Amino acid sequence: MRYASWISELKESFLGEILKTASYEDVISFAGGLPAQELFPKDDLKDCFNQVFEEDGFMALQYAEALGYDPLRAWILEQINAGSKTKTLEDIIITTGSQQGLSLVAQIFIDPSDVILVESPTYLGALQAFQSYKPTILMVPSDQDGIIPEDLEEILKKQNPKFLYVIPNYQNPTGRIMSLQRRKDLVEIAAKYNLVIVEDNPYGLLRYEDEAYPNLMDLYDNVIYLGSFSKILSPGLRVGYVIAKKEIINQLARAKEGMDLFSNSLAQRAVFKYVTCKSINEHIAKLRKAYTARRDVMLSSFEKYIGDWAKINRPKGGLFVWVKIEKIKDSKEFLEQWAQKEKVIFVPGTFFYVDGRISNEMRINFSCSSPEVIEEGVKRIAQALSKVK
Ligand SMILES: Cc1ncc(COP(=O)(O)O)c(C=O)c1O
Repeated sequence: MRYASWISELKESFLGEILKTASYEDVISFAGGLPAQELFPKDDLKDCFNQVFEEDGFMALQYAEALGYDPLRAWILEQINAGSKTKTLEDIIITTGSQQGLSLVAQIFIDPSDVILVESPTYLGALQAFQSYKPTILMVPSDQDGIIPEDLEEILKKQNPKFLYVIPNYQNPTGRIMSLQRRKDLVEIAAKYNLVIVEDNPYGLLRYEDEAYPNLMDLYDNVIYLGSFSKILSPGLRVGYVIAKKEIINQLARAKEGMDLFSNSLAQRAVFKYVTCKSINEHIAKLRKAYTARRDVMLSSFEKYIGDWAKINRPKGGLFVWVKIEKIKDSKEFLEQWAQKEKVIFVPGTFFYVDGRISNEMRINFSCSSPEVIEEGVKRIAQALSKVK
């Protein structure tokens, strides 16, 4: 077959193979980024879908506008604007999950060889969305507070990137949050170099500690903001959104028409019913409570079974801990040779770096396993580690 060059150049999906083993009997998987399915508000959502069918079933089953269902767009803006009226209905488009937002942004901005910037490490799915448009992706050095402004400025003196992609809240994969000072420094530099920022925020509401920081979108005009209902309601709904200047939204809508015409109307209407008729805040409070407990069990199990062998961050939100194991050099090799034999899996750090560097880090998900399973999984990692010479 004569496939496009970007797809022919893709290597075998090692990660796909790993994730397949998650469904094998007895395997404990910390590899996926899944929310806990037992916490999905299944009955309430069923109710909402039923109401949509009863009240406006024909409309919901018909073709619809690329921009999405107006009442839902308006509701999202009301939350985001929180009292001010800086964004209007023209500044938002509903997407098929925020993953589609990433693809659409890539499609309207990236020509082959264009430079784009990402954090180091960053979300693998974003790299996948960007890579099909063949950009040159540069990693901006980052620490526990996010990207390092001085390093960003050094890059901007030499390069003219199409955009910088960041996940300021409870980042995937590291779980870290960008500090307030960093946010201010980042937008100051961005303004100086007229840099477009793509701000991806699927985890912002999964906050377990501290007050929220302002979104970059609130600090700087040139931001394309991506949000999603996947982590606070259910990823199966595939309802996400992009907020940006009207001019950008119009280009995204044109690209979206060519991709899927519009996102699932039933799901958009059911989400709108949910957020207006059910108690979304109570639901989020429930998620926060459950995930905080799971995070704490993950941290205490690492402390108890692995101790000094591991350096682990304490995420204040989100779904992941990021672990660095001093005893090993390569977490991918450790996974293949030792951890899988003990029937526990995670995502090796290498996958989150554009340069595919050897890494002794790993991303561990704590949201979709019960506290008992978390403890058992960490015990298995410890067992595997004890066998490494
Ligand atoms: C940082 C980040 N962005 C986007 C997505 C995609 O989410 P959605 O389900 O909204 O497409 C994910 C999913 O895990 C993610 O971690």
